[in-house]
Amino acid sequence: MNETTVKKRMLSGIKPSGDLTLGSYLGAIRNWKEREDAFDCYYFMADLHSITVRQNPADLRRRSLEQLAQYIACGLDPEKNVLFFQSHVHQHAELGWVMNCYAMFGELSRMTQFKDKSAKNAENINGGLFTYPALMAADILLYQADLVPVGEDQKQHVELTRDIAKRFNGVYGDVFKIPEPYIPKVGARIMSLANPEAKMSKSEDEDAGRVCLMDRPEDIMRLFKRAVTDCDSVVRYDPVEKKGISNLMNIYSAATGRSFEQIEAEFAGRGYGDFKKAVGESVVELLRPIREEATKLLADKAYLQKVCEEGAQKAAYVAEKTLRKVYKKLGFVAR
Ligand code: TYM
Repeated sequence: MNETTVKKRMLSGIKPSGDLTLGSYLGAIRNWKEREDAFDCYYFMADLHSITVRQNPADLRRRSLEQLAQYIACGLDPEKNVLFFQSHVHQHAELGWVMNCYAMFGELSRMTQFKDKSAKNAENINGGLFTYPALMAADILLYQADLVPVGEDQKQHVELTRDIAKRFNGVYGDVFKIPEPYIPKVGARIMSLANPEAKMSKSEDEDAGRVCLMDRPEDIMRLFKRAVTDCDSVVRYDPVEKKGISNLMNIYSAATGRSFEQIEAEFAGRGYGDFKKAVGESVVELLRPIREEATKLLADKAYLQKVCEEGAQKAAYVAEKTLRKVYKKLGFVAR
């Protein structure tokens, strides 16, 4: 391996394709912070990935900057974590092309997200939607990442990354570190409040099912009040028969640190109304400091600009090392 870091590396990204949700926070960002001292950390706004679905340019620009502010507001200290925009580090697109040539058609066809997204965007099944996991493999492998903290829905893509890396290493020697997915025990799959059968999503969900990090407390309370449950009235964890309640328990557990048994005992003999109110309040308190801090940061565009410029510089340094090694192995003439 050409990297001689003492610390192991963590890397992850989020598409700025919609406002960050409670799902993105509990499934991903919250776990990024946890290990910022133990690991060398790289986190980016996956703007290249977001255009596989059509975006309004002004909205994309606004959301991308908001996302950077929210990363910092969620506790990611830019001194300890490298924060950057994917499109600012051109090596992603370059290695992405190489990875395309090592990802198999059959593998890409089997990706659940491709199947889901192409069903939902039947009028725009573009090449990028199909080859998306190859770019994601490049994102991860460029940094020789050891650990990739993601929610459950991204596990398949990290597994494909491992397969591509092993295939490449098999031909050219020890070029890429083989990364491990890191999925949280609680919060890995937060479901829509309006439809507990579907994942809470930034972009595809109807608004009633989605809690965003910047939502006002009264809006959050309203969303939880209307959350879809069942016609029973017992707060019990049963992800097959009681999907809505189990999702709320998952959220409450992630927000308060209480176990499912403790939650069941806390709400024994009380109705769903009490429970939904408690979950709403726990989320309001969880998100309040993030919203307040992000709002402050967004007023300081010069600071955000500095963070992302420095981040891109640090990221490009590491990414270029890997890319050069890959190009050399492939037989490209050195620049
Ligand atoms: P994205 O933008 O869809 O989601 C960002 C992160 O949030 C997690 N997540 C959830 N976790 C729990 N419950 C939910 N409802 C929920 N919704 C989202 C996702 O699992 C993810 O961790 N392809 C990636 C972005 C990406 C990436 C990468 C990630 C691009 N390159 C390299 C890691 C490494 C994506 O679309 O995530």
